[in-house]
Amino acid sequence: MQDQAIYGAKMMQPGLTAADTEENNLRPQHLEDYIGQEKVKQNLKVYLEAARRRGEAMDHVLLYGPPGLGKTTLAGIIANEMGVQIRITSGPAIEKPGDLAALLTNLQEGDVLFIDEIHRLSRQVEEVLYPALEDYALDIIIGKGPSAQSIRINLPHFTLVGATTRAGQLTGPLRDRFGVLLKLELYSPDELAQIIRRSAGILDQPITPEGAYELAKRSRGTPRVANRFLKRVRDFATVLGDGVIDREVCLMALRRMDVDELGLDELDRSLLRAIIEMYGGGPVGLETLAAALGEEAVTLEDLCEPYLMQMGFLTRTPRGRCVTHLAYQHLGMRPPEDLSPEDSGQQSMF
Ligand code: ADE
Repeated sequence: MQDQAIYGAKMMQPGLTAADTEENNLRPQHLEDYIGQEKVKQNLKVYLEAARRRGEAMDHVLLYGPPGLGKTTLAGIIANEMGVQIRITSGPAIEKPGDLAALLTNLQEGDVLFIDEIHRLSRQVEEVLYPALEDYALDIIIGKGPSAQSIRINLPHFTLVGATTRAGQLTGPLRDRFGVLLKLELYSPDELAQIIRRSAGILDQPITPEGAYELAKRSRGTPRVANRFLKRVRDFATVLGDGVIDREVCLMALRRMDVDELGLDELDRSLLRAIIEMYGGGPVGLETLAAALGEEAVTLEDLCEPYLMQMGFLTRTPRGRCVTHLAYQHLGMRPPEDLSPEDSGQQSMF
């Protein structure tokens, strides 16, 4: 078992890479610095304040939504706002019940345990988690056969923050043990532009409002993508420009990175093109499509589809994935005569 990382300044752990540290530097530490997700933020504020006033640990929280939207960041904020430490791990890293027991028995009163990809916990580990969540207790079996004894170890009152991209894959019993369920949504370009300007400030990187907005529009609703673009465009501005990120540098850098004007990358475009060229625009099953592209189905489902659907380029039907009129238009291809524009899923965001 591996503890993956420790968030924030309250706990340090060897093994953090430079990239981890840099990403951590850009993460807001308090709710008031967190941009976007207004509904989540307003409700969370109430739950945190209530727990603080009662002097209790915050109830267990499940954060779900596409990758890169700030689930780890929010877990860190919950810990900071409660003034407790956070221990960060992930579903696949907790291999055995004993791994979880070790994590739980090392927590202090009120601490946050963050389990990323919580849908990937094994059933045996999940069984150990239930009494821990419900009664703050660990049931341990000592010995084997008729002489086996069960003993109960009391745990400190802690807060589990679970994160998943696929809430539907959580078992019912696990989902039911979270008192707070928070769904994160893709960010608007305005919110992403604010995040980019904030990050540029932390990196001491001059950026024009037009530059920030150009990056924001192409960041597929995702702060992680926005911050990654910011760092790469900063490289272009440093080496090929005058050090300032303006709209021109953004256009040049994004063109060189094969990111189009709506933020689609090569994989997004290949996905849409494959549906059109190989399957007549769909419907086509996800597994078939993944095999055709040589990608994992989860990669397409988690990384490409949320944004393509939000943009109104792709629809999911019971019979499979279909591209829309807008997708043909975006790729500069002619839609078939029988595909009406109304047939084209939701409207584009832009
Ligand atoms: N960095 C990454 N996500 C952020 C957010 N939601 N608000 C502010 N800074 C961020």
